[in-house]
Amino acid sequence: MASILISGANRGIGLEMARQFGNAGWQVIGTVRRPDQADALRETGARIEELDASEPASLDALAERLEGEPIDVVFANAGIARNLEAGPADVAADEMKEVFATNLWGPIGLACALKRNVLASERKTVIAMSSLMSSVSANDWGTQYSYRASKAALNALWSALAREWTGEGITCTLLRPGFVATEMTGNRGLPVAESVAGLCRVVESLRLSDSGRIIGYDGRDVPW
Ligand SMILES: NC(=O)c1ccc[n+]([C@@H]2O[C@H](COP(=O)([O-])OP(=O)(O)OC[C@H]3O[C@@H](n4cnc5c(N)ncnc54)[C@H](OP(=O)(O)O)[C@@H]3O)[C@@H](O)[C@H]2O)c1
Repeated sequence: MASILISGANRGIGLEMARQFGNAGWQVIGTVRRPDQADALRETGARIEELDASEPASLDALAERLEGEPIDVVFANAGIARNLEAGPADVAADEMKEVFATNLWGPIGLACALKRNVLASERKTVIAMSSLMSSVSANDWGTQYSYRASKAALNALWSALAREWTGEGITCTLLRPGFVATEMTGNRGLPVAESVAGLCRVVESLRLSDSGRIIGYDGRDVPW
């Protein structure tokens, strides 16, 4: 049975991924900041682990608890968006720091912390959740400064990770869920089940040759 660890699995896209991968017969580990507030995830049958993805000590503790367990796919999904409408002069250094801690260091830290688990598995895959907002070439309306910067930096580091880890047999891929109706978007956008059905299809089909790509829920490449 294939296994997947999904960060930020208590709500939104992460919760629906836990549900759909579980229904497809995967063994799912969902990480959450507050296990006592993860009833919806618990109902999916997923195993629940505590993780604050922006805290190195929390990543170390997770790695220690999971030591020796093969994990086929580590999916760094947890992410935040702040002050999406703010102009450039209103983006504070503290906001950049907070958004980068979760959206950039979180995924890189998770991949590094669980690299041995991934290497011990069949599929050997690490995925981070990117966004069309990461794209420099497709940015045609501005705004979302800290969010765009964090996801563009995530693409850059995941791409470097792909160059380094593909030789060890690890597929390092970025995915884009589309504009999805969750708390992050004020519940505007695609139904989450539709986006996640596409993401699951992409994850199922990933090969080592997909390392370094950014792939949309629709299977299409996302522009850099
Ligand atoms: N929705 C979209 O249209 C869209 C588009 C492109 C990309 N994305 C990306 O998709 C991912 C999921 O987004 P979503 O729409 O599902 O957002 P969401 O509904 O706001 O859920 C975000 C999830 O991330 C978790 N999280 C945030 N900070 C965390 C931290 N420091 N440690 C651990 N967990 C943390 C949240 O947990 P708590 O409940 O504890 O806060 C929650 O489970 C994000 O990376 C987002 O950037 C979303």
